[in-house]
Amino acid sequence: MKAAPESVLARAAQLRREIEQHNYNYYVLDRPLTPDAEYDRLFRELEELEQLHAELSTPDSPTRRVGGQLLAQLDTVQHAAPMLSIRTETDIDDTGAEKFDSYVRRELGLDGSAAPIEYMAELKFDGLAMSLRYEGGLLVQAATRGNGEVGENVTQNVRTIHCIPLRLQGVTAEVLEIRGEIYMSHGDFEKLNERQRSNGDKTFVNPRNAAAGAVRQLDSAITAQRPLSFFAYGLGDVRGWTVPTSHSEVLDAIGRMGVPVNAQRKVVVGAAGLVAFHRDIGTVRDQLPFDIDGVVYKVNSLRLQYQLGFRTREPRWAVAHKYPPQEEITTVLDIELHVGRTGVLTPTARLQPVFVGGVTVTNATLHNEDEVRRKDVRIGDTVIVRRAGDVIPEIVSILPERRPADALEFRMPEQCPVCQSAVIRLADEAASRCSGGLVCPEQRKQALLHFASRRAMDIEGMGDKLTDQLVDAGMVRTPADIYKLDLLKLASLDRMGEKSAANLLAAIERSRNTTLARFVFSLGIRNVGESTAQDLARYFGGLDQLMAADATALQQVPDVGPVVAESVVRFFAEPHNLAVIKDLRNEGVTFSEVAPRPVNPESPVFGKTFVLTGTLENLARDDAQRRIRDKGGKVSGSVSKKTSYLVAGTDPGSKFDKAQALGVTILDEAGLLALLDQ
Ligand code: IVH
Repeated sequence: MKAAPESVLARAAQLRREIEQHNYNYYVLDRPLTPDAEYDRLFRELEELEQLHAELSTPDSPTRRVGGQLLAQLDTVQHAAPMLSIRTETDIDDTGAEKFDSYVRRELGLDGSAAPIEYMAELKFDGLAMSLRYEGGLLVQAATRGNGEVGENVTQNVRTIHCIPLRLQGVTAEVLEIRGEIYMSHGDFEKLNERQRSNGDKTFVNPRNAAAGAVRQLDSAITAQRPLSFFAYGLGDVRGWTVPTSHSEVLDAIGRMGVPVNAQRKVVVGAAGLVAFHRDIGTVRDQLPFDIDGVVYKVNSLRLQYQLGFRTREPRWAVAHKYPPQEEITTVLDIELHVGRTGVLTPTARLQPVFVGGVTVTNATLHNEDEVRRKDVRIGDTVIVRRAGDVIPEIVSILPERRPADALEFRMPEQCPVCQSAVIRLADEAASRCSGGLVCPEQRKQALLHFASRRAMDIEGMGDKLTDQLVDAGMVRTPADIYKLDLLKLASLDRMGEKSAANLLAAIERSRNTTLARFVFSLGIRNVGESTAQDLARYFGGLDQLMAADATALQQVPDVGPVVAESVVRFFAEPHNLAVIKDLRNEGVTFSEVAPRPVNPESPVFGKTFVLTGTLENLARDDAQRRIRDKGGKVSGSVSKKTSYLVAGTDPGSKFDKAQALGVTILDEAGLLALLDQ
């Protein structure tokens, strides 16, 4: 092999710089500037040069990120500076922050009149601790924490993580160890699991396990296929670099070297500042694109840190302040079936009560039969339960090693557990249904509850307990029966005081005059939700016109397709539904005829098709859809060439990628609101 001439050396160096700059823009700043095709060309050119001239293949070359060397086992590494852990404040409420502040002040011998202390408040990333050792600016070693003194050498694997620079920007210090956390973002975790599933491989339980498993691989080619990220939070061994005087400046400096440092960090003053940070992060925790299990407070001045020193293996100047865990382990006591308003039978796991996500959870939905099979949940199993924010608790996975020998498999019964009618499952549906219709007392109860609910007829006081009583006592069979109730009947019910009976009757009375949209929604027609009911009411103006419409006429309503049209036609073809409606009208239920709302064809929303993805911060999904429709826009469920705008909230799904690929204009929530307000 020939030694490379000067011009080739220069070209290789230039390619390396350009590729690293692209990596940095892409993986650290999240702002790719170079098209992928261009990047691929640069990469291939560099690979070719390195194949021709072996000496070009320097350890910091971006071509060395792909992995490949297979290890028999991971070597151990003696940490030059121990990797410490931090104390955890056990009080989950505000007192956690207050206690830490008083502890620090006491240790420093400060009295009440001394100035408040400056702290750095950071996120506590839920991943895997990592020490990156740079010598002369080059990444020479990456090691796990291990027992704090001795860790595992995972250099080859960590080199495949694109956001970790192989060479620091502007620093050639003799030794610089950067400490931080390797993690996997939610989006990357979902994609990885999707890939695992489609390859028939086992899926990962959570992002932390996926990240830890990927880092500790013996085959770095496997690590290279797992999308990992990194945030720096401190330093280890340092030689030949002047350390600034505060931790916040240290993090700023690390960021300037091209290493990712999370932006959600803040210098705060005193206990009040810590409390505010803990609360602020607590409110956005569920929207972060990665898992955190708390926040970390650190005394900002390195001089004060030194003065405070260590207590055994933990610094006195730092503490972790956790949030309630979002995942817990518990056992499945039973799998019960819940009958919904439309007869859908939902298997629900009854759990040994467990405190998770800030509440005690006793149930978790299993959605349908397929889901029970997919997760292989059995009665008696030990399971991981997750509850994040206001989301309904769910079973993430089972722990197979803890399955008792007598664990019981769930089977969808052939008969409804409430009314014994046949259970049917249509070929193209995941749901099993009770075929009993309103013969099934449970469906009748649910239908009545829906009829009386706030967004339907809004009968305050008609909750599930009272509805159970009314149905079980045979006083109410159809919605019209509600309007036949009187004080005498109600007084005969258990635990029904005179005052609440009078209140209920007044609420029933008030509901007699309603809007057509509410009335249509309250009927519980399949596939007709609140906004479709509003569309129908707006279009037809009166109930008789709606009842007379055939499928073709119904599909003239914006956004009503064949499925909804079919449901509506079927509903009004059913004699017992017509009887109920007639009965309701006889009982004096009336609704204002609605004047069609004028739509301004000049509005930029008029005639445009919108698709929504992700979570919007201020607008509920329903509200956003309604406001778009009110302005004459359409809302569709999937992205196509006909889509005018994709509205993306946080954590957008695959629709986002598709919209980008098709060149559809992407709006954020503010962008949507601006269009609606024009
Ligand atoms: S500082 C001497 N800061 O939490 C202080 N640790 O026991 C060293 N962690 O496993 C740790 N986020 O990997 C620090 N912003 C952060 C952190 C953080 C996550 C992890 C760390 C270690 C544990 C601390």
